[in-house]
Amino acid sequence: MPRRQLLIEIPALGAIDRARGRIGRQLAEALRSAISRGELAAGEQLPSTRALAESLGVSRGTVTEAYEQLMAEGCLDAQPGASTRVAATLHAPNSADQRSAVIDADCAPSPPKSAARYAAIAERMAPLPSVPFSVAVPEGAVAMDDHWRRLSNRVRASQVAAPSGYSDPRGLLTLREAIAAYLRKARAVRCGPENIIITEGTQQGLYLAARVLMSPGDAAWAEDPAYPGLTSVLEERGIAMQRIAVDSQGFDVARALEMCPAAKAAFVTPSHQYPMGMPLSMPRRLALMEWAKQSGGWIVEDDYDSELRYAGQPFPALQGLDSRRVVYLGTFSKVLAPSLRLGYVVAPDCLAPAFAGARALMGRGSPLTEQHVIAAYMKEGYFETHIRRIRAIYGERRQALMDALQVELPELRIQPADQGMHIIVWLPDELNDVAVAKAANKAGVALRALSPMCSDNLPLSGLMLGFGGFTNEQLRDAVRRLRQVLEKGFQVRPPPGCTLIAE
Ligand SMILES: Cc1ncc(COP(=O)(O)O)c(C=O)c1O
Repeated sequence: MPRRQLLIEIPALGAIDRARGRIGRQLAEALRSAISRGELAAGEQLPSTRALAESLGVSRGTVTEAYEQLMAEGCLDAQPGASTRVAATLHAPNSADQRSAVIDADCAPSPPKSAARYAAIAERMAPLPSVPFSVAVPEGAVAMDDHWRRLSNRVRASQVAAPSGYSDPRGLLTLREAIAAYLRKARAVRCGPENIIITEGTQQGLYLAARVLMSPGDAAWAEDPAYPGLTSVLEERGIAMQRIAVDSQGFDVARALEMCPAAKAAFVTPSHQYPMGMPLSMPRRLALMEWAKQSGGWIVEDDYDSELRYAGQPFPALQGLDSRRVVYLGTFSKVLAPSLRLGYVVAPDCLAPAFAGARALMGRGSPLTEQHVIAAYMKEGYFETHIRRIRAIYGERRQALMDALQVELPELRIQPADQGMHIIVWLPDELNDVAVAKAANKAGVALRALSPMCSDNLPLSGLMLGFGGFTNEQLRDAVRRLRQVLEKGFQVRPPPGCTLIAE
């Protein structure tokens, strides 16, 4: 429907399109925008409802409805028997300069300083596509089994899944009981349900720990290299982070004490150093405990994938050595699925209420339905069977990946490790791992580079290859493609005599 010729000179009204309907709402929007742009100044008289209705070709009631809406919002004033005016308290700009300033400011708001920092974190933590070698993609044979589906259906059909009021921010008691029983038995963690706070995964556990244990300006030790989700949290909290290079025994406590004796907390991955893979040796574990005891410092143990050890039993958790000084973080991301967004903090007795409070501030707790499903899965014995099953599958896939690497890319050294869902391969020193990862990602091979996980003082060049959710064939194919990327773009040549795996 063509727009009418306006008799009333308010440019914003020209945007009203009767074909779009809801004219009253469009009119209110147009007048609001005319006021904010300064086309209508504070105190200025508006046309009568009759005149504006005639000009727009709409009913008088439509105009009255728009005026009343704007009066309720405080944009317009009308005294009984007097005309309607733009509210005098609105200091809308009058001059052309002021108007254009308002328009420019509308178009280009300038984000606060912190926005760029958070945007960079979003980029750094963007997930990779679900193709090899993305880490933690529980699909196919490693996805949860039929018992999971049956329990999910049972929970969803029952009263417990019905929408209800707020619940305990620490999470569902039956799940906390199941986790405590599992951790005592499988991880040698000393805890009861009262120590457990359900989180949206270890990422949130790290954030909570940085909030509860640290104040801006406090010093903390972090491993080098380390999980970027941790280093970003510490930076965000304004922590003076001292990175400590790991060696074959893991985190080096003596070196940490030399470099930063005033640390208030140590953030470590004792069972399976992330990303290098070595466990923290017993002498280092004892040294770390001794430091915590002597200094009153806290140890934050990120136990993200320790269930997945292939060459023997998983290493026991550090927390079992002294549960009073360790905040233990666990997750269902690796053994079940990252999309569940469920994990847990095991807090020492004296810190459990504080973690519950911090968790309440961060969203009041996690959705209950999935918690009921996991609790049933654990209590009915399926969880541990599932772990045993996926451990066998992952072990086989890991071996297939290492075999393929040895055949296709024997010049790349594999970092020794016997657990987890990824392996690290070293690149020749002169190769830029970020450039290699970028080129591989373009060729459909999802890779993370090692150097962004390192401090500026640690010039490592390597690649992280996840193998969890992919078949042996997919892994071999991805290794072949990685080899092509390295040969074409980076002149990495296989040694003479090296054979290709049959296509
Ligand atoms: C070492 C480490 N810590 C924490 C996390 C975060 O895990 P979640 O998915 O439980 O937040 C990850 C995820 O990959 C990780 O590798």
